[in-house]
Amino acid sequence: MNVLNKKSVKDIDVKGKKVLVRCDFNVKMENGVITSDKRIVASLPTIQYLLDNGAKVILCSHLGRPKGEFKPEFSLAPVAARLSELLGIPVKMATDVVGESAKSLAANLKDGEVMLLENVRFHAEETKNDPDFSKALASLAEIYVNDAFGSAHRAHSSTTGVADYLPAVCGFLIQKELDYIGGALENPKRPLVAILGGAKVSDKIGVITNLMEKVDTLIVGGGMAYTFFAALGHTVGTSLLEADKIDLAKDMMDKAKEKGVNFLIPIDNIVGREYKEDTEYQIVDSDDIPDGWMGLDIGPKSTELFANAVKDAGTVIWNGPMGVSEWEHFANGTIGVATAIAESNAISIIGGGDSAAAIQKLGFADKMSHISTGGGASLEFLEGKELPGVAALNDKD
Ligand code: 3PG
Repeated sequence: MNVLNKKSVKDIDVKGKKVLVRCDFNVKMENGVITSDKRIVASLPTIQYLLDNGAKVILCSHLGRPKGEFKPEFSLAPVAARLSELLGIPVKMATDVVGESAKSLAANLKDGEVMLLENVRFHAEETKNDPDFSKALASLAEIYVNDAFGSAHRAHSSTTGVADYLPAVCGFLIQKELDYIGGALENPKRPLVAILGGAKVSDKIGVITNLMEKVDTLIVGGGMAYTFFAALGHTVGTSLLEADKIDLAKDMMDKAKEKGVNFLIPIDNIVGREYKEDTEYQIVDSDDIPDGWMGLDIGPKSTELFANAVKDAGTVIWNGPMGVSEWEHFANGTIGVATAIAESNAISIIGGGDSAAAIQKLGFADKMSHISTGGGASLEFLEGKELPGVAALNDKD
């Protein structure tokens, strides 16, 4: 599949048409109040484009995991209210997904109007990608637009199944993700540097394996680095260690050598006595972690080493923090890497989740070329897996 060859909303005529748009409105909520509207804001360009071009816009999404039952705390009503504020027009809220409320609102929708269906996961059929449910969703509209990158790794009715019954194209958000991440994987501006962090090697095996074939430099930091230290024969104190992945770590380092990939792991670390925010800490070299101490961040020499690798990069892909970045004393590695990326001229692509949060918190968001809106989806994309929500879309002729 060529992800760069998918039809987008710009390739079809939407005037006067009912367009079903799958968004990822899986926003953070506390007691019914949206605590981050980033995902709603990210969906605006596609919705606005469709409205400006005279479409009748029917939005749908999941929120949380209500497991196929109506649960009021998972209602998308607060999203409709926020979206209405952002668009400056009413957003009609259906009280169901494919029932009477949805059908009658959709049937009476005028050009340039927008409505939102209830949470698609109120139906168990959604996650089963049930053909009848997909058909019922599709029957509300004439065109399907998928703009839910965060859910593109799910083969569900609203992300995939519905495309069997309608012309199916991507929205601007998915298109941007495909252009940046797909572009970096297929035809990167070199040198291509990938920085991977996070706790576990096991979470990133697929990504490391796929990127090894593509990158010039591969940097591993965060909790998973200690398994690589162990593979080099270093003792790691009480640091995170996946003993059953030591051989794999060794194989990966051998493979990097064989392929001429510059493989960097931390040369020093900030180690703490305990896994606690205010624990006693010190800086030690990677081959000198004392017994009873655990690595909680990369050290200053490693930060400099990694920053230097980023300086001359053509493209940087970053996924995962370098340490326990939510704790002040163990955030410097993550801050240092984020700063180096912000200061470089490289095309910078930030995977979702913790690294995206760190970039936002540091105020570097506008210095990055692309911050992915997908956590799991961006990881699977980097692993080289086909995303069902993208595969289902029509190709350009
Ligand atoms: C996400 O938040 O990663 C997406 O919205 C997907 O949610 P899910 O993991 O519940 O499918």
